[in-house]
Amino acid sequence: MSKGKATAVANPNIAFIKYWGNADDALNLPANPSLSMNLAALTTVTTVEFRPGLPSDMVTIDGQPAEGHALERVVQHLDRVRALAEIDEKARVVSQNDFPAGTGLASSASAFAALSLAATRAAGLLLNEAEVSRLARLGSGSACRSVPAGFVQWDGDRDATSFARQVAPPDHWDLRDLVTIVSHQHKQVGSHHGHEIVSTSPFYAARLAAVPGLLATVMSGIQQRDLANVGPAIEADALAMHGVMMTSDPSLLYWEEATVAVLQGVRAWRHSGLGVFFTIDAGPNVHCFCERSDAAQVETRLRNLPGIQDVLVSGPGGGVRLVEYYLF
Ligand code: DP6
Repeated sequence: MSKGKATAVANPNIAFIKYWGNADDALNLPANPSLSMNLAALTTVTTVEFRPGLPSDMVTIDGQPAEGHALERVVQHLDRVRALAEIDEKARVVSQNDFPAGTGLASSASAFAALSLAATRAAGLLLNEAEVSRLARLGSGSACRSVPAGFVQWDGDRDATSFARQVAPPDHWDLRDLVTIVSHQHKQVGSHHGHEIVSTSPFYAARLAAVPGLLATVMSGIQQRDLANVGPAIEADALAMHGVMMTSDPSLLYWEEATVAVLQGVRAWRHSGLGVFFTIDAGPNVHCFCERSDAAQVETRLRNLPGIQDVLVSGPGGGVRLVEYYLF
């Protein structure tokens, strides 16, 4: 790998217990611990090169030059890396997702995980996993969870201690996430704004109070590979988070008609004996969980619902890693 240039690959993650609301907005210190699984089937690849003489950072995302807020977030993150490495060179960054960005599929999680590792290596820094996770958190909170592999928990209430740690490796449980795409539209309201308005919801405190119990259930359910216990807790927390979103001021309503059709479908199939459960991030798409042995049947049923554009099937993914090729 040439000095000054590096490529990293990251998977997005899906939260079983959600991060929604900060104790500190500037540092992305979460109001509650969260727990997630990385998604092996979805990837972001990012190459970073610091170049002497470059007048400004040049960033390309999915073949388009980044501008506005997206560019600003990347430049701010590169500034953090430059400060750590004590360099001033501007960087060329090329990033490629193999899944639709901005639809609640957590593209900024894999984006900031990959950017953190590629940029620190390109700047000559050798950070450990906790340090990369902590840095990724400053770019996008949930990105810190895409740094360790497999099933991951993020907690810690101070800048130095707030990063993600593995709770089980990817091969611990052959769970499947059927990512059910009902819209490819870019979301209207980003998570950043959502975190800032959480406390306007009368349900916010109630959701936070429920988190420790749900987290304990999900944690022990993962350890025992017990979907019958994990599933209801995942659904309860997703619905509590969306209750907070819908009752915030301004109200955030991410669901579409097809979103509700999936929720109704999942519940009906479960009543008929199929082990499948849902969660939803800040977007209209639905993540449906089941054991690998049920995945084909669940996928067929999902594809037969109205308004479904695509179903991406993923098992548990690895952590952020370096690769030996470049995107430019
Ligand atoms: C609903 O602030 O990490 O996905 O930076 O926009 O990706 P972005 O989001 P972030 O909030 C994520 C919120 C969530 C829940 C979760 O992933 O825990």
